[in-house]
Amino acid sequence: MRIMILGAPGAGKGTHCKRIVERYGVTHLSSGDILRRERAEGSELGRKAQSYMDSGALVPDELIVEMMSKAIGNAGDAGYVLDGFPRTVHQAEALGASLAENQNGLDTVINLKVDDDLVVERITGRRSCPKCGAVYHVKNMPPKEEGICDHDGAALVHRPDDTEDVVRNRLSTYYEQTKPVVDYYKAKGTVHDIDGNGDPDDVAALIFDKLDVLTRK
Ligand code: AP5
Repeated sequence: MRIMILGAPGAGKGTHCKRIVERYGVTHLSSGDILRRERAEGSELGRKAQSYMDSGALVPDELIVEMMSKAIGNAGDAGYVLDGFPRTVHQAEALGASLAENQNGLDTVINLKVDDDLVVERITGRRSCPKCGAVYHVKNMPPKEEGICDHDGAALVHRPDDTEDVVRNRLSTYYEQTKPVVDYYKAKGTVHDIDGNGDPDDVAALIFDKLDVLTRK
């Protein structure tokens, strides 16, 4: 299965990709996670990406397209779920050209829709595990023990770009540069809009409804 999840910052893309991976065995390809790994390793790409990420701007297309093409090429036979890529129409066009070259297409595009006020509340309360990538929220999805990952006991971290000011910049960037990507795929007729405002289990059920159909094909 080749799935794409679109949505504003904090819409729940990462949260639901983890559930999709558990249910369908696909590889999670998150451009944000890959960039954070590159930064943690101190690579040239990580150093180039740093200032863009910390201010809520997008990392330049040429860096992202090369990074994600490599990740897609290394994904397993079960397929993948793209999270956070593409984020500009140029990235979407480059992805389309590269998939066509390999005679592959996307099976479906899920667009998670969440109100802006909820996004700010979700992101400022998010905590993540630096070791396994598990995502929590101090109120909505707290770990069993405050500040500690349920899976591996690591101390949870607050991302540097998760402050209210940077979230508002990330939202503006989303409306200016990434919302047109939703329209780009809508014009191709492959997008399922999903209401992401509700309880995580209810949102997951709506997503699985769309994806289960693909497994029966
Ligand atoms: P990235 O890491 O991709 O950030 P993002 O798209 O802004 O998305 P988030 O990770 O913030 O949110 P999410 O939708 O995954 O939400 P989550 O599930 O965690 O990108 C970071 C930066 O990298 C960018 O700003 C840019 O600089 C750069 N970058 C990345 N990709 C790029 C690209 N293609 N091109 C250029 N630059 C790129 O949920 C959020 C919180 O809400 C969590 O606490 C969670 O527990 C909670 N939550 C989730 N769902 C629910 C629910 N239903 N109810 C209640 N709480 C919920």
